[in-house]
Amino acid sequence: MPKLKLVTFGCQANELDSARIAGLLALEGYALTEDEREADLIILNGCSIRDKAEQKLYSRLGSFQALKARRPGMRIGVAGCLAQREGESLLRRFSYLDLVVGNGEHLAEIPQLLQVAANRPVAATGEPAGLFPTDVEIHRESRFRAWVGIMEGCDNFCAFCVVPFTRGRERSRPPDDILREVAVLQERGYREITLLGQTVNSYGRKLDPPVSFATLLRRIDRLVAKEMRVRFTTSHPKDVTTDLIETLASLPSVCEHVHLPVQAGASRTLQRMERGYTREEYVKKVCALRKAIPDLAVTTDIIVGFPGESESDFSDTLSLMCEVAFDASFAFKFSPRPNTPAALLTDQVPESLQAQRLAQVLALQDELSLRKNLAMIGKTVEVLVDGDLSKRDSGLAAGRTRQNRIVHFGGGVVQEGILASVKITEATPHHVKGVLTASL
Ligand code: 5AD
Ligand code: SF4
Repeated sequence: MPKLKLVTFGCQANELDSARIAGLLALEGYALTEDEREADLIILNGCSIRDKAEQKLYSRLGSFQALKARRPGMRIGVAGCLAQREGESLLRRFSYLDLVVGNGEHLAEIPQLLQVAANRPVAATGEPAGLFPTDVEIHRESRFRAWVGIMEGCDNFCAFCVVPFTRGRERSRPPDDILREVAVLQERGYREITLLGQTVNSYGRKLDPPVSFATLLRRIDRLVAKEMRVRFTTSHPKDVTTDLIETLASLPSVCEHVHLPVQAGASRTLQRMERGYTREEYVKKVCALRKAIPDLAVTTDIIVGFPGESESDFSDTLSLMCEVAFDASFAFKFSPRPNTPAALLTDQVPESLQAQRLAQVLALQDELSLRKNLAMIGKTVEVLVDGDLSKRDSGLAAGRTRQNRIVHFGGGVVQEGILASVKITEATPHHVKGVLTASL
């Protein structure tokens, strides 16, 4: 049986793509291995969102060169956003590379490309316009939580972002396909699904007839009832509609959490980022969401040091973080990406200043998260038990609340994938601790 090693870098979309590649190649007889020395095929599925992510992939790729020299029969491929962006040029740069495969429908071409790669290096990286086929079984590691891709690509062209170039134009899966996948997951006992797309809340606009994300959620909720937690990511602030807010508030299966990347706190920066909303509009939407869903957790992405970001612009980011009181945030230093308008701006912020600002954002978020977590002490929460989250040496079990907070807890033995009631007793910025009171 040939062996496949998959190395995945990047976001949830990349993780899902790797699971798709593993499923597809299982049909060709490949078994997964962790050990590259026994692999017949290594595929690095890589991210392109920031330069650092790309450098990580290149350095990992370099580490396989000696292996290939010892075992010339093995094949090495690069897939995903980096492959899509760099295309065939990767084959010229890395003589030991056999296969370069882009996103979307290209992933499904891997078996045919491997046949060609038996004789010569090959690339398939034309702009992706399709979707990965629905009939290929996804190789899912977890038995209780699953990503479900609902759309691919993005039409927003934020000034800093490479995604519209690597994942192509926005396209949505037909709702019936999604519902079938969800029904199978439910039958198999899955307890949590996360609907995945670059901007899930613009789902379905181009379908014929169009279907809104709110409608899709209502159909999923009817199917799964209370047996499943439904999550979704990522949402775009400009596409948060009143209909969506009302829908989120009314559906019992949908978790009380939105990941709503704000990127910056100054309207001037948001405009230069071409985000399509002002600070005030963002705050208004969060207020409307919180009003409709009182225990909602709001998390975000923040970019520091966007070109031209002044001290005062940056302090607007800090003040927005306090105003919204995000439950968590992911912060990044701006990284100029090829072909994006922001990379051409002349007023780039020096790296040292970006680093300082990043440290300030992280410190402030720790404070805000700790405050939220301290407020949980004494409360009893529902936790979906997740073995991946427990620290081996602590002896504690772990899981996530519906708001996506990580909870470590003792007081009883629990199985992965069950719902547990936990009384919170302690808080840190990144998780809370508690004791088991009941398991369902
Ligand atoms: N530089 C830094 N961060 C970026 N992101 C996207 N593009 C860039 C870039 N060029 C961040 C945004 C986005 C998250 C997935 O990555 O915050 O929401
Ligand atoms: Fe990138 Fe903007 Fe699209 Fe998000 S909405 S994927 S940041 S272009």
